[in-house]
Amino acid sequence: MTIVNIGSINRDLTFKVPHFPVAGETITVESCASGLGGKGLNQSVAIARAGGNVIHAGAVGEDGTQLLEQIEKLGVNVDAVSVSAELDTGLANVFVDHSGDNAIVISAGANAGIPYAPLMEILKQVGHGNWLLFQNEVTLSEEVLVEAKKNGLKIAYCAAPFDSETVSPLLKHIDILSVNEIELEQLKQHCPEELANCQFDLLVTLGERGAYFRSGEITTKVVSHRVSVVDTTGAGDTFFGYFLAHYTNGVDVGSCLEIANRAAAIQVTRLGAADSIPTAAEVDAFSPKSPTNESI
Ligand code: RIB
Ligand code: NA
Repeated sequence: MTIVNIGSINRDLTFKVPHFPVAGETITVESCASGLGGKGLNQSVAIARAGGNVIHAGAVGEDGTQLLEQIEKLGVNVDAVSVSAELDTGLANVFVDHSGDNAIVISAGANAGIPYAPLMEILKQVGHGNWLLFQNEVTLSEEVLVEAKKNGLKIAYCAAPFDSETVSPLLKHIDILSVNEIELEQLKQHCPEELANCQFDLLVTLGERGAYFRSGEITTKVVSHRVSVVDTTGAGDTFFGYFLAHYTNGVDVGSCLEIANRAAAIQVTRLGAADSIPTAAEVDAFSPKSPTNESI
């Protein structure tokens, strides 16, 4: 299966901080690193590292052409990424504290100006039985989803960052929706009818407690592994990308959750987002310690 991912590409500037700064405060970082990120790109890298076939569609600025070379080296096809002459590559300032939690500020840049014509073209080329994936760091009109469905693609959607006005009209086109706990609450609050009548399967990531996948009446759960957390940035993206790579290739849900859970467990032990996503070989070699929580 091929997954076309229409998603953000960011340059992540990760600042390891003793605590998150408050208004009026100036603090000095403990370390600073520049790496690949963006919810979209993180998910593409996770799919590729899992062994999946992914075409990333999106946009960078002229300052981002070097990033594209790095992304290709990670196994992601970037032929459908446009280079904007007007907008800079997306930028994320990521603050990570001692517990590994983060606070992120984004400048969308070229992610806000992805041209539609190449997207429509790639959806036609990829065609029946394959998948379209997207997140909310790029703005997609329903037109793109309708085109995908017309061409026989299934649609996976990570509704982050959550915004009810964006999410609500798109849900009827979705086959798999991925949210975290906070986004699930927002979904319940703002889109209760869509959720009650939902035709889509639902993947909910629960951070250090694990994840579950609900398909109709059947819910399958996984409990996360106990690891030393350094940076949780992109952990949910890693989980969803790994999950999709296997799920879209016919692997049973329980195994998909297990593999994704291991990938995310490794990813959070390393600083950075896309660059810290483990390879399939690393995931295979991971020997889990006891789960953190038995009761999700
Ligand atoms: O989900 C994590 C990502 O969110 C980071 O890589 C950052 O770029 C922001 O988009
Ligand atoms: Na990480």
